[in-house]
Amino acid sequence: MDRYFYQKIDSTNEEAKRLLRKRKSPPFYIVAEEQTQGKGQQGRKWISPKGGLYISIVLGEEYDIHTALLSATLSVQKLLSSYVSDIKIRFPNDLITKNKKIAGILIEKGNNFTIFGIGVNVNQKIFPEEIKEKATSLYLITGEKYRIRDIEKGILRHLLDTRKLPTPVLFQWYKKALMLDMPAVLHLKKGPPIRTVIKDITERFDILTEKGYFKLEELVWIEW
Ligand code: BTN
Repeated sequence: MDRYFYQKIDSTNEEAKRLLRKRKSPPFYIVAEEQTQGKGQQGRKWISPKGGLYISIVLGEEYDIHTALLSATLSVQKLLSSYVSDIKIRFPNDLITKNKKIAGILIEKGNNFTIFGIGVNVNQKIFPEEIKEKATSLYLITGEKYRIRDIEKGILRHLLDTRKLPTPVLFQWYKKALMLDMPAVLHLKKGPPIRTVIKDITERFDILTEKGYFKLEELVWIEW
């Protein structure tokens, strides 16, 4: 698979879209050592200094959004679990250890492509003030430095391997790593935010809370 490497770029997801517009056909992937305008979920930014992994993998398959979420989240969970024992998933696709976020995923879909944008905190020693209570890295957890290229290769391999597995199998595995009984504020497309506790999720990604069922599609974001 073609690999595009940049020392510095605005956002690997944006570069993926530029290449697609230039008619580059999937599969391919983009890696950067540093991003100047890394994008997070809900239009937030993803602070992306050297020391982290910033990768966008573009596949040509028709992934439905649920399968895409499952495959990407599990691939990163599996890779990180080979270094740290308690990597959990916070719904729908944050990777958490010791109550802090260690990796995030931003999926962008088009008619004939899916971009899996993955950011992993690897060798960072410090985080900016605004996220320092909420973020961690492999280095901060284990005290060791890692070769970012190895992490890149591992995630890519796991993502390609998950293509062979049926969605229900992915879901069972996902549920095993999912953090439940978590208090959260659900910000819905309609109506006021709902403060509740997430008790379970269904295979269709409906969320069962203490205040009833919600569909993933009804949500704008979940505040933890
Ligand atoms: C999140 O908010 O949790 C998602 C973070 C996704 C960050 C990755 S880094 C590589 C890719 N390029 C981006 O601009 N964002 C994603």
